[in-house]
Amino acid sequence: MSARERVVLITGTSSGIGLATAVTAARAGFTTVATMREPARAGALRKAARRAGVTLDVRRLDVTEPASVAGCLDDVARTYGRLDAVVNNAGVANSDPTLEMSTDAALRANLEVNFFGVVAVSRAAMPLLRAAGGRLVTVGSVHGVVGQPFNEAYCAAKFAVEGFMEALAPVAAAHGVRVSVVVPGFVPDTSFGIFPDVNRRTLHTASGPYAPTFAAYMDRIAGQGWESAGRPAQEVAEVVVRTLSEECPPFRVPTNRWASEYLAAKLADRDGSAVQRLARTWLGRPDTPSENGS
Ligand SMILES: NC(=O)c1ccc[n+]([C@@H]2O[C@H](COP(=O)([O-])OP(=O)(O)OC[C@H]3O[C@@H](n4cnc5c(N)ncnc54)[C@H](OP(=O)(O)O)[C@@H]3O)[C@@H](O)[C@H]2O)c1
Repeated sequence: MSARERVVLITGTSSGIGLATAVTAARAGFTTVATMREPARAGALRKAARRAGVTLDVRRLDVTEPASVAGCLDDVARTYGRLDAVVNNAGVANSDPTLEMSTDAALRANLEVNFFGVVAVSRAAMPLLRAAGGRLVTVGSVHGVVGQPFNEAYCAAKFAVEGFMEALAPVAAAHGVRVSVVVPGFVPDTSFGIFPDVNRRTLHTASGPYAPTFAAYMDRIAGQGWESAGRPAQEVAEVVVRTLSEECPPFRVPTNRWASEYLAAKLADRDGSAVQRLARTWLGRPDTPSENGS
């Protein structure tokens, strides 16, 4: 079946990777249902679609509201009679510096969008995807494979998504649905992690006894030029759309060479010491004894 006849639903398309993916999918010929929790915020998406000369079907979907998820999927089924692919893209960052300084409520709020939201949309879509022999693609993160200091809640949610989808993939494949997780590294040209009241100073204050370690980490990552290692949202969008179109996409799809090499280091790290060693250098403590005394 050509892309032109296929219907894809994407979550979180008001900005960033979701916006770029919606326009890229439509340009590739997919009938694209671009969802967002607040359609009044569709201005940037509509402008990008106009510029690209494509049409999008913009609908409301809040991944944390069961009625919104069910209602949107039912409406799509009524309108098109089919759904060939879902892109779980909606996600939120974490603004708490670390475990002791965070709360259960903040951890749960993060998991609500980044994990349970993904599960809810996937569950609601699965009957349609099975009927179509479709695709379920989720935007993960390198931080769903490698833990990032001072980002526990987000890492927990993205690790959960990886595990969930890895377990689901062979079962879904047996019923004709291909499941993949697309894994970007740092993507700076999005709204991700922008909290108007949060900056290095407020985070430092909120870090309590961890403040010196937090400061060392921030200095280290600034010194390593992570900003310049960032890749554009459009690159991720193109990988997502390729994953929707390839006959046999792999389960895990890093979006560039840096992400691929980063994952490779973790996946070869059987007892976890290599990642611990690396993370300790980010904190300015390369020689902290490891758990096995080395
Ligand atoms: N940027 C990075 O460095 C990076 C790296 C790796 C992976 N990722 C992943 O990429 C995905 C997209 O993030 P992004 O970087 O493009 O950031 P973004 O510009 O902030 O986009 C996130 C999108 O998710 C939406 N969203 C948040 N809560 C929602 C909810 N309850 N229901 C529906 N939509 C909701 C946001 O909508 P509103 O406009 O309504 O808030 C927004 O459209 C996320 O899954 C993120 O974890 C990002």
